[in-house]
Amino acid sequence: MGLLRLAVLVLCFQLAHFTDPPCEMELECAECVPDNMPLVTSHRAANGSLTVPAGDELTLACGGGKFLAYPLRDTLTVQCEAGRYRVRADDTLRHLLDLGCQESIFEDVLHQVDNCGNLQGRAYLMRSAGAQPSRHLAALCFDADRAVAARLRMSNAPHNALRVAPHSDAAAPLSLLGNFNHMFDATTRHAAERLYSDDARMNRRLRELLKHEHYSFAEQSLTSAKLLSSHYFEDQNMRVTDFVSNRVAVWRSVAHGNLRHVQRDVAKFLALSRPHAELDVYAGTHGVLALRVGHDHTEIFLKAGQRFPVPKYIWTVVHAKQANKAVALVLLNDPFVSVSEIREAVFCESACGRVPWLHELRRQRRYETPLYGLVFCCSLRNFTSVVSEMPEQLINVPEGNAGMLTELFD
Ligand SMILES: *[C@@H]1O[C@H](CO)[C@@H](O)[C@H](O)[C@H]1NC(C)=O
Ligand SMILES: *[C@@H]1O[C@H](CO)[C@@H](O)[C@H](O)[C@H]1NC(C)=O
Repeated sequence: MGLLRLAVLVLCFQLAHFTDPPCEMELECAECVPDNMPLVTSHRAANGSLTVPAGDELTLACGGGKFLAYPLRDTLTVQCEAGRYRVRADDTLRHLLDLGCQESIFEDVLHQVDNCGNLQGRAYLMRSAGAQPSRHLAALCFDADRAVAARLRMSNAPHNALRVAPHSDAAAPLSLLGNFNHMFDATTRHAAERLYSDDARMNRRLRELLKHEHYSFAEQSLTSAKLLSSHYFEDQNMRVTDFVSNRVAVWRSVAHGNLRHVQRDVAKFLALSRPHAELDVYAGTHGVLALRVGHDHTEIFLKAGQRFPVPKYIWTVVHAKQANKAVALVLLNDPFVSVSEIREAVFCESACGRVPWLHELRRQRRYETPLYGLVFCCSLRNFTSVVSEMPEQLINVPEGNAGMLTELFD
């Protein structure tokens, strides 16, 4: 009898242990992680979240920085225990919120970037531990005067390591102008964070702008969307896409329509190609959305001084470096475009029908539907002859079909 009771007890204990909740970390959710979430170096994330079974040991790292609650440590070993974390160093049980770093692992910094013209160069970096240099995950040209990204670049290379021209990482001593630039930068960033974190505020602005024109929005509204999708990045690197310099205002039906379809297709293509081919992805904006009021068009800027434009086009260029082929996927961020305007808006003869890896986009010929955001696919030459944000000298692929990236690698 005593033995049976013991067996039941052991079983119950084991069951309880077995059903202990795992430790979960959402990587695509601004509010549920601590500020300055550490990097989990012992486990890999899948699909935007990290799930660690109860009992597993994890290593957390602050990339050379220190933990807020452990100012002397840059790494911590913890054990997942019923959804919380037992810290080896002092045997305390901590919530994830208590395990933030003093500084962010990922940074969006002013940086030397070639071919940015007179725009601001920036880079998304991951801080490394010790004396190792930071890792570059994306480089961008940001138009600080207009407060919109012109062009970003990332790669599907292992760890998304981006090759950049040699440069000095040492911060130059700040001149008066340098100080001004940093202040201006912080102000722009703050304004962008406020604007893009609150759809209601953004749409109040929009309606205020066209109040007197009685513009019919037909229930359309703006939201903010990422130019580089988080799904282009491996593991926890996807967190760099949260930087506000990667955001623009997009019509909701477009964001949830073809912008999503394009980004899913590109993400899949990057992942499938990774073992065979190194691909670069460029993403950016072009033009300012203009809504027709009477006989005129009104360009939409969400802030005074022609700042924070709603882009007319959002584009993505995929470049297979070895094969030296590329394709430009151009999305028209205008669900109100009229039939008579489409001919002018579509500035190349579209080849989307010839790009088999655009599965989501080609399903039910979605790319032809303005409500979802009309998409057309250009050869790189046809694209760069119109879109100055992507300078022609950046990629030199053969003209016409020979330089067109259509096939999957296998
Ligand atoms: C990724 O997560 C989304 C929602 O969170 C889900 O719809 C999708 O099926 C997941 N994909 C994979 C491959 O698990
Ligand atoms: C696209 O480029 C080809 C040459 O590659 C050229 O013949 C054609 O006129 C261009 N089309 C447009 C619309 O620019």
